[in-house]
Amino acid sequence: MRLQDKVAIITGAANGLGYEAAVTFTREGAKVALVDFDQSGEQRAQELKDQGADVEFFQVDVANRESVDNMVSQVLDRFGKIDILINNAGITRDGMLTKLSQEDFQKVLDVNLTGVFNCTQAVVPHMISQSYGKIVSTSSVSGVYGNVGQTNYAATKAAVVGMTKTWAKELGRKGINVNAVAPGFIETNMVAAVPEKVIEQMKSIIPLQRLGKPSDIANAYLYLASDEATYVNGTTLHVDGGIMM
Ligand code: CAA
Ligand code: NAI
Repeated sequence: MRLQDKVAIITGAANGLGYEAAVTFTREGAKVALVDFDQSGEQRAQELKDQGADVEFFQVDVANRESVDNMVSQVLDRFGKIDILINNAGITRDGMLTKLSQEDFQKVLDVNLTGVFNCTQAVVPHMISQSYGKIVSTSSVSGVYGNVGQTNYAATKAAVVGMTKTWAKELGRKGINVNAVAPGFIETNMVAAVPEKVIEQMKSIIPLQRLGKPSDIANAYLYLASDEATYVNGTTLHVDGGIMM
């Protein structure tokens, strides 16, 4: 039970990596607020409750500050504290630079960048008041290595690394650890939308020669959210089969 009695907010928890993290965190003893704008999170939360987990679903668009603030105060009412924030919600709107619309550029910034800022700024006063907190945000190999067709997405995922380092410097003295995970290509809906020939090309540059599984990332979130990582701060953990080294 590596997260016994800890309270975690996981964004983007209705699907993919966020849902897998919710499963992993509850198994390790955490109480979890599953945050997503996809209403199917309600069903996902119910399944976890049926297995005895203490969880609640909150339907929230992380890009909307007012709804994030409401969610944080409801989480405090429901669970009494917030120990962990996993900034996992994210979207893609891929397109070559020459074709990328202003709308698709902005939409990805709103969710992947402003959403991370909104959630972090909303929980941090509470974490400061209890002198304890773990913040883990999701970057990507695309943000570090670049990726054809991902101007908007790569910009936000590089920004996550920069914000993580900045917050690690600002909040370390307050007892808060701030880190990021940079996944490679992981088997979720997000990657299922990528053309098969691009997937094959990606596999060829991965030393492990295969895509990752959601549990590979959930376990990285778990490590950084746990007290095993108390002296890890400001880092970006690459979980990508060896693309970045
Ligand atoms: N490397 C090099 N060249 C590439 C390329 C690549 N990965 N992908 C496309 N190209 C080239 C094409 O061969 C083509 O070249 P020519 O003009 O000489 O024929 C040119 O770029 C245009 O490509 P498309 O014909 O595919 O252009 P399009 O406008 O129809 O589609 C696209 C562009 C939407 C970006 C499409 O190529 C695509 O979906 N690519 C995948 C993008 C991707 O990898 N997304 C990752 C999503 S998963 C994720 O984001 C998770 C994470 O964090 C890793
Ligand atoms: P996914 O598409 O399966 O799940 C993303 C979840 O975020 C969905 O449930 C979606 O409803 C939710 N979401 C999207 N916009 C939201 C918003 N505005 N407010 C609240 N919730 C919102 O994607 P996946 O693969 O699970 O991705 C999770 C995170 O991991 C994302 O930040 C993604 O960029 C990142 N990532 C994923 C990789 C992969 O290969 N799957 C690789 C690197 C990073």
